[in-house]
Amino acid sequence: MSKEDPIIRVENLTVGYTPGNPIITDLSVEFSRGKISTIVGTSGCGKSTLLKSIIGLLRPWEGRTSVAGNDLNYLEGNELTLALSRIGLLFQQGAMLNSITVAQNVAMPLREHTKLPQSVIREIVRLKLDLVGLGHAIDMLPSELSGGMRKRAALARAMVLDPEVLLCDEPSAGLDPQTAASLDELILNLKATFDMSVVVVTHELPSIDMIADDVVMLGRGGQLLFDGSLRQAKQCQVPEVVAFFARSVPSQSGRSKPLLSYLEERE
Ligand SMILES: Nc1ncnc2c1ncn2[C@@H]1O[C@H](COP(=O)(O)OP(=O)(O)OP(=O)(O)O)[C@@H](O)[C@H]1O
Ligand SMILES: [Mg+2]
Repeated sequence: MSKEDPIIRVENLTVGYTPGNPIITDLSVEFSRGKISTIVGTSGCGKSTLLKSIIGLLRPWEGRTSVAGNDLNYLEGNELTLALSRIGLLFQQGAMLNSITVAQNVAMPLREHTKLPQSVIREIVRLKLDLVGLGHAIDMLPSELSGGMRKRAALARAMVLDPEVLLCDEPSAGLDPQTAASLDELILNLKATFDMSVVVVTHELPSIDMIADDVVMLGRGGQLLFDGSLRQAKQCQVPEVVAFFARSVPSQSGRSKPLLSYLEERE
């Protein structure tokens, strides 16, 4: 399906880690500007791999990816630095450096990409931490934060350069439902306030219900099982998609069944 003026394009992407063993094969998909798109699919199907290829960490074997018109896999020097500064990244593991304070972590992209004086950097960092409700933690170490606080601090860092697009890999994994919901609200607010395009990899159904405009579902081998709005996803008859939203296991015959009856059948 072709989307109007997509922020991210993936065209005929084939990529992997070991020669001869592709993780994603011939994937074409687009992510809309100004929307929240969620990427779903079973563990190990290649969601994080897709994000790595999009941000230029893993060069395509075939095909291409682009963000706001830039193929990050083939940019170098200042052009790459500039293109990267327009993308906010929230990694699956949160990736905060434990030996420096929250403020210093959040300030890192500003130090890398700007020549702003220290006082201005401190002010921007304070504003971003206030935005995620962590103003009080500015001088704490990441190890002194709870898991949810660490995710929010990582989100503040991802947002510090006012990116055009935010990519989040399982932002609410390991968080309690309330903390996960507050992170979702934060992502919704960021989209509404800054008109940001957001791509979120997630397994969490409540989170998808709350934030998703669009859903992209990948199957084993990284193939595209579904691409469309959340409403269309819920009406889709592809067994894996039905099973995902019903939290059940797709049967061999193609019809999905509740997990309980699947387990009963096996006994
Ligand atoms: N650095 C790596 N080197 C080699 N293989 C890798 C590497 N990273 C991931 N893989 C393999 O690529 C496949 C897809 O991994 P990926 O992390 O993209 O899955 P995922 O869909 O993000 O899974 P999850 O939902 O568990 O995060 C897996 O088989 C994994 O073992
Ligand atoms: Mg992953």
